[in-house]
Amino acid sequence: MTATSAPAATAPADTTAPVLEVRDLVVRYGSGRRGRSAPPAVDGVSFDIWPGETLGVVGESGSGKSTIGKAVLGLHPPAGGTVKLHGRDITSLSLKQRSRLVADLRVVFQDPYSSLNPARTIGQTLVEPLRLLGLKGAEAWAKARAGLESVGLPGDAVDRYPTQFSGGQRQRIAIARALVCDPKVVVLDEPVSALDLSTQAQVLNLLADLRDQRGLAFMFIAHDLGVVRFLAQRSVVLYRGQVMETGPVEAVSSHSRHPYTAALTAAAPVPRPAEQALRRVAREALGIGSAGSAQPTAGGCPFAPRCPLATDVCVDERPALRPVDGKSVACHHAERVPQLLDRLTVPHP
Ligand SMILES: Nc1ncnc2c1ncn2[C@@H]1O[C@H](COP(=O)(O)OP(=O)(O)OP(=O)(O)O)[C@@H](O)[C@H]1O
Ligand code: SF4
Ligand SMILES: [Mg+2]
Repeated sequence: MTATSAPAATAPADTTAPVLEVRDLVVRYGSGRRGRSAPPAVDGVSFDIWPGETLGVVGESGSGKSTIGKAVLGLHPPAGGTVKLHGRDITSLSLKQRSRLVADLRVVFQDPYSSLNPARTIGQTLVEPLRLLGLKGAEAWAKARAGLESVGLPGDAVDRYPTQFSGGQRQRIAIARALVCDPKVVVLDEPVSALDLSTQAQVLNLLADLRDQRGLAFMFIAHDLGVVRFLAQRSVVLYRGQVMETGPVEAVSSHSRHPYTAALTAAAPVPRPAEQALRRVAREALGIGSAGSAQPTAGGCPFAPRCPLATDVCVDERPALRPVDGKSVACHHAERVPQLLDRLTVPHP
């Protein structure tokens, strides 16, 4: 990763306190009795993000990653818990009240094709959030041009339309739109998943440089532990809306102590196809790849139906997060995970 030596674009952030604090977040979909009885999409999630830091939020499809992002951004109301920005509780603010936070809390979505309005020029798209902040005319347009240049695009791109750009360039434009108001926190919801591998690396490098220059805090959502490892300092591993493991990203991805993280690690692509095939066989033999139709018990560990280490206590008692080897792990048998990881990542002879 290459960090540039450009000067900070904004005043240095307060690094003595978390910029975003999420506590015991619960989010449900659906309304009325049906909504209340549905299992929550996010179930008691807590984390902090500090200025200049990237927190990776990782998990399989449907694990609740985007739902956390939506609750933080105020796009879906939480059923419980709190979200604080700069120490201020923003959990229950209306969208109108939140519009004043537009400068501090921004988002980049996964799909660079649908996230930009094809009928508007890039300049119109970038100037819109600046207008909400009271910036008008030449000043707003100059900021839009500078925003494009900060992501490696020419300032005169303001006059062009989204269809005139590649996927990678559109994602740069989406990043410029998020950063043009000098935010403190950016939710990045799978920002590189739709891009090819070489474009992914360029966009990840760009994000890292911008974060380091501006002291930005990123909540970086991804499927893939490898991608999270590239950008994040800490990570949260989610399964069925609950935190399974959290801690320094290297410790979580290389020395996981939760069977689910071990399964994600073992499922990540490896360069040798023969080894990849052996890993798949090992996952299938251990039945850790999918739970099939089996559902977890309400009071037990959500991962029990597909966990090779499950015992009676796992079915009866939901494990609390507890410290294990420098991380927090929600597993009754975390100490047995290294042997499981050895079986899942068997190297090709
Ligand atoms: N608008 C909605 N209405 C009802 N259920 C929803 C809605 N959005 C998400 N869900 C459900 O909430 C759970 C979490 O979904 P979410 O989109 O947060 O997962 P995710 O981890 O972001 O998945 P992906 O990696 O596929 O984007 C899933 O079970 C999903 O089906
Ligand atoms: S608590 Fe039990 S079922 Fe859950 S992950 Fe740990 S060993 Fe597996
Ligand atoms: Mg998602």
